[in-house]
Amino acid sequence: MKKLTLSAIALSVTLASAAHAAPEVIKFSHVVAENTPKGQMALHFRDLVAERIGDKYEVEVYPNSQLFGDGKEMEALLLGDVQFIAPSLSKFSKYTKKLQVFDLPFLFEDMEAVDRFQQSDAGQLLLQSVKSKGMIGLGYLHNGLKQLSASEPLRVPSDASGKKFRIMSSDVLAAQFDAVDAVPLKKPFSEVFTLLQTRAIDGQENTWSNIYSKKFFEVQPYITASNHGVLDYMVTTSAEFWMQLPDADREVLKKALDESVAYGNQIAQQKADDDRQKIIDSGRSQILTLTDKERGEWVEAMQPVWQQFEDEIGADLIQAAVQANQ
Ligand code: LMR
Repeated sequence: MKKLTLSAIALSVTLASAAHAAPEVIKFSHVVAENTPKGQMALHFRDLVAERIGDKYEVEVYPNSQLFGDGKEMEALLLGDVQFIAPSLSKFSKYTKKLQVFDLPFLFEDMEAVDRFQQSDAGQLLLQSVKSKGMIGLGYLHNGLKQLSASEPLRVPSDASGKKFRIMSSDVLAAQFDAVDAVPLKKPFSEVFTLLQTRAIDGQENTWSNIYSKKFFEVQPYITASNHGVLDYMVTTSAEFWMQLPDADREVLKKALDESVAYGNQIAQQKADDDRQKIIDSGRSQILTLTDKERGEWVEAMQPVWQQFEDEIGADLIQAAVQANQ
């Protein structure tokens, strides 16, 4: 009897201290699959936090728009329903016009140029561009260059004329498709597969890893390897959440995040190459390579969009991005 009472006391002490020490849950919500740079980065962050400060914080990752789709994730962040998101840079235009620079078609020659711009003073300053709206950009994460997929082959701009393309919620991307007389439709990422499958739209633009992981290639017989724009992310938290953290904890979380972003960036190019190859191997979609002349026609048709958005974005910022190509 005495023994039983003692073990009951021991158990209740254990339960009480466990309840007391329950780690604070940090929710990381995103819209893509787990086998993408963003999906992998978020899981890496979860693991590093568990390893380094798991007694105090537990990161829960919600992929595939499970918790919030891209129409809602920024509001959810500001309401405190999630603590980390990593939306595409194309989705911030409600909060800042500056990040639109990343959407300008044919601005960056390759991902190295994108990276140089992001790491430049001008690029780093852009991480603060949504601060007045209560959000803090903690770093850039790569996905990669966008390709054009469609139900019919797109070799020259006139092939896109009259066709409907899903775009992210960006006026620059809308103007880019207007420039080739196509019809842009702003739709959430979670709806793209069904829109393509039912032929409600004719095409879309995305990276190799998104086209592969969301199976767009199964319902799009042609993918033009256009590399016409970039799809990268800003890993974002809310100022309210971030600033109330004890300094020492914030430091540990930031270091874990920086390392996770570096990891995501390191695997992004390989993922793009592998997923492109898997699409080729599937035989479901034909990849079209443009001649210099064909590509030149797309550039000529779409580049006037830069001028159209120069006042909103700032000529200096566009110039700084152009310089990153050298
Ligand atoms: C899209 O909506 O196409 C992308 O932003 C999805 C993503 O987060 O990569």
